[in-house]
Amino acid sequence: MDVLKTIPVHYWNNTISNEIAQTAIHALEHGQIVFLPQLSFTVTADEKELLSPHITNRKHKNISFDPHTNRTQGDVCPPLQHAQLNALMRRYYQHALALITSLFPGYQKHLISGRTSLRTVEIAGRKSSYKKDDSRLHVDSFAATPVNGFRILRIFSNVNPDGIARVWQTGEPFATVAKRFIPHIPSMSALEGRLIHLCKMTKTMRSPYDHFMLNIHNKMKKDRDYQNTVIKTTIELPSRSSWIVYTDQVSHAAISGQHVLEQTFYLPRAAMHYPETAPLSVLEQLLNYSLVIKEKEAVSAVMAE
Ligand code: SIN
Ligand code: FE
Repeated sequence: MDVLKTIPVHYWNNTISNEIAQTAIHALEHGQIVFLPQLSFTVTADEKELLSPHITNRKHKNISFDPHTNRTQGDVCPPLQHAQLNALMRRYYQHALALITSLFPGYQKHLISGRTSLRTVEIAGRKSSYKKDDSRLHVDSFAATPVNGFRILRIFSNVNPDGIARVWQTGEPFATVAKRFIPHIPSMSALEGRLIHLCKMTKTMRSPYDHFMLNIHNKMKKDRDYQNTVIKTTIELPSRSSWIVYTDQVSHAAISGQHVLEQTFYLPRAAMHYPETAPLSVLEQLLNYSLVIKEKEAVSAVMAE
């Protein structure tokens, strides 16, 4: 199976043929990256300055926008420029939402919008702890934001003004990764999720699903031998292109590049066309028990973002 599935989409708000929609959903849910080489996001001449890495404050890796509150944070812009940045982030969110709902109409009613990010710092040579080092292969799982089985769907657009590609690597299919790491992860005690939440380390309770995903994420990144020996594919994602990927499923690493916009969405497994391909289904099949928590507070985990 190819890593990329190229889909001919030219506009953010399209009427998509049934055939293209079926191809796209099959590829996406089976762990391919839906690659949209002709779909570019326009940053206007007036907005070009917002792509400077100097506007990102040093504490944060990215500038981030919350579509629910309409607030942007992580920048050091004066008020007028901050308002311009906020408008850019909001516009990307709206474009991403329009694209996802036109390409995957079945998702529309169930999508939960997460954060929008602007990543202006060059990846190559960036220093960070191993857990935060996205240049090592990993599947996404966030320590502070339990998803309780919801999917992490992300859309990226390379807005590099100098025509420079973003370089990624991808690794093994999720089931292979899971089979390799699950035997080394102890199961979660019933008390653990509640305690972690009570200590305010997570926004809502951590489910067994999040426990396993976070451990897979950390163990993959920590294991030098695995990183060096696993079969990888290098892909170049050109400037002025976009791509859509389930980052909780596709083992990925960002190797180099600068200037990308990204939008995160969450989706319940039940809204998928092929729910058996979800990491939750794969893990439950391996472990043979349910990994999600039923309590209300846990189900709405991603809404507390
Ligand atoms: C990641 O999700 O690991 C980083 C992707 C990127 O910034 O290109
Ligand atoms: Fe990632």
